[in-house]
Amino acid sequence: MTQINNPFSMANKRILVTGASSGLGRQIAISCAAAGATLIICGRNPERLQETLSQLAGSGHVTILGDLTTDDAITATVEQAGNIDGVVHCTGISIPMPARMAKREFIERLYNINVFTPQLLTNQLLAKNKLNKDGAVLFMSSTAAVRGVHGTSIYAGTKAALIAAARCLALETAKRGIRVNCLAPDLVETPMLHGSGANMPTGEWLDQQRAIHPLGLGTPEDVANAAIFFLSPASRWITGTTLIMDGGITH
Ligand SMILES: NC(=O)c1ccc[n+]([C@@H]2O[C@H](COP(=O)([O-])OP(=O)(O)OC[C@H]3O[C@@H](n4cnc5c(N)ncnc54)[C@H](OP(=O)(O)O)[C@@H]3O)[C@@H](O)[C@H]2O)c1
Repeated sequence: MTQINNPFSMANKRILVTGASSGLGRQIAISCAAAGATLIICGRNPERLQETLSQLAGSGHVTILGDLTTDDAITATVEQAGNIDGVVHCTGISIPMPARMAKREFIERLYNINVFTPQLLTNQLLAKNKLNKDGAVLFMSSTAAVRGVHGTSIYAGTKAALIAAARCLALETAKRGIRVNCLAPDLVETPMLHGSGANMPTGEWLDQQRAIHPLGLGTPEDVANAAIFFLSPASRWITGTTLIMDGGITH
């Protein structure tokens, strides 16, 4: 039996994080680097991606800029990333929209970045054997996939798709010891939650949410700690599953 001194160690692991220029992806990259990993971080905004890079402990980290809704950018990312031990898919957009107002263009926009990007990137990593044996794939789902919230039917569908995909992908990758799982956070205090726009939550609504979550709202660090669990040998027997992280709101 393999002896593992620290089952949560990320030492000698190369981890690809998309959406690393902000919010959850940024913190996951920072926490993975602090735990000993070498990071390949992706984003569109050069300044904010550089800001994440500047916060990574250790050396040898790589940045990749690009809009991951294009096949060319996905292919380039896979090539530049090289061989990796894990990928965390944090790209995504969350725009509430009542169903009666959600047209094809809006639905395609959300599915494109929230579903097609993580799935196509994962598929290419697997097809090109870039994920090392015993590696890990981690999708960023949401509690939107498992509980009804007004105005989120399209977003919720994108997040449910990832949960279903992880279950099936886990079977395809198990023979190489590669695990595929999802995190499903409820509200986490990131720029996404504090974005602008007609449909974005107000401060008053956020205060109400803080009050009704038994453990309050999440922090990016909470999600990053769970990501390290799923990327590390500590979770070597867990695949195809989804961890609900919700401060107790769905129970
Ligand atoms: N925050 C929450 O409460 C919460 C809860 C549950 C699930 N989630 C999910 O967690 C993920 C991250 O959320 P977050 O709160 O960290 O959001 P965020 O702060 O808005 O960050 C989103 C990231 O996705 C990147 N991105 C967006 N569109 C892209 C594109 N076309 N190509 C490449 N990168 C793109 C952004 O890059 P640039 O900034 O460089 O453009 C940014 O790095 C999302 O999938 C979200 O649905 C969030």
